[in-house]
Amino acid sequence: MRAPFRVVVITGASSGLGASLASAYAAPQVVLGLIGRSRERLEAVAAACTGRGAQVYSEAIDVADATVMAEWLTDFDRNNPVELLVANAGISAGIEDGAGYESPETTTRQIEVNLLGSVNTVAPLLPGLCARRRGQIALIASVAGLRGLPYSPGYCASKAGVRAYGEALRPLLEPQGVGVSVVCPGFFTSRMTDRWEGPTPFLVSGERAARRIKRGIDQARRRIAFPFPLVVGMRFCDLAPAALGDEILRRFRFRIRSA
Ligand SMILES: NC(=O)c1ccc[n+]([C@@H]2O[C@H](COP(=O)([O-])OP(=O)(O)OC[C@H]3O[C@@H](n4cnc5c(N)ncnc54)[C@H](OP(=O)(O)O)[C@@H]3O)[C@@H](O)[C@H]2O)c1
Repeated sequence: MRAPFRVVVITGASSGLGASLASAYAAPQVVLGLIGRSRERLEAVAAACTGRGAQVYSEAIDVADATVMAEWLTDFDRNNPVELLVANAGISAGIEDGAGYESPETTTRQIEVNLLGSVNTVAPLLPGLCARRRGQIALIASVAGLRGLPYSPGYCASKAGVRAYGEALRPLLEPQGVGVSVVCPGFFTSRMTDRWEGPTPFLVSGERAARRIKRGIDQARRRIAFPFPLVVGMRFCDLAPAALGDEILRRFRFRIRSA
């Protein structure tokens, strides 16, 4: 389904990309359902969207909580049939200071929030979307989902999972009238990127990334991946002999400070 969208749900709407998309979709006659963790930040975004004329329902929910997500989303969808769903909430982490590997808790939490959180966002709305035979789902993965990076195994695993989930849903749902956009952005400025210590090739502003992603979603593009050189680089490392890909990516050293 292409824009305009009259009912939009966005997770991770309390900051960064999610907040920018919420503000961009906010307009008179638009209903927004916004989910995040920090109630304070979420209320500030909701107030800004209300100021732009949208009707806003916001709720502080952990996307990893499947039961609460399903309850809130099905209730919202019953009253406001969803047209666009953006599964954007995400966290990042990596190798802890002084450790040679990521702790199991860190890996697991990223998979719970990023991957299972996306499933918890999409799955409860599928019956309604498919029954109505209209709507668009956007899943925010990452270029880190194109090939594993040695210093953030859990993040890469979670984003590869989001990408594969979206790519599987896309041909499955299309004949049922529901479109899927799989989004693989490179670096953009945000609170998440503020904790990144290391090179950030082709970094763009959060606003610019949000504009590009919104344009792709509005056109119902199946894949939104940028910047081109980073996408090609990651694809090359994936297709190259494993030893060569490993050697190149091992040189791309970075550290993600804890939140
Ligand atoms: N920044 C980049 O360079 C980059 C590149 C590629 C992909 N991405 C992806 O883009 C998405 C947005 O990231 P961002 O850069 O805009 O970071 P951000 O500013 O940190 O925003 C992350 C959002 O997700 C929410 N969130 C985190 N854990 C949650 C949970 N358990 N339940 C509900 N909401 C939760 C946060 O809520 P609170 O504000 O309340 O904590 C926040 O609204 C993420 O999926 C990220 O992986 C980012």
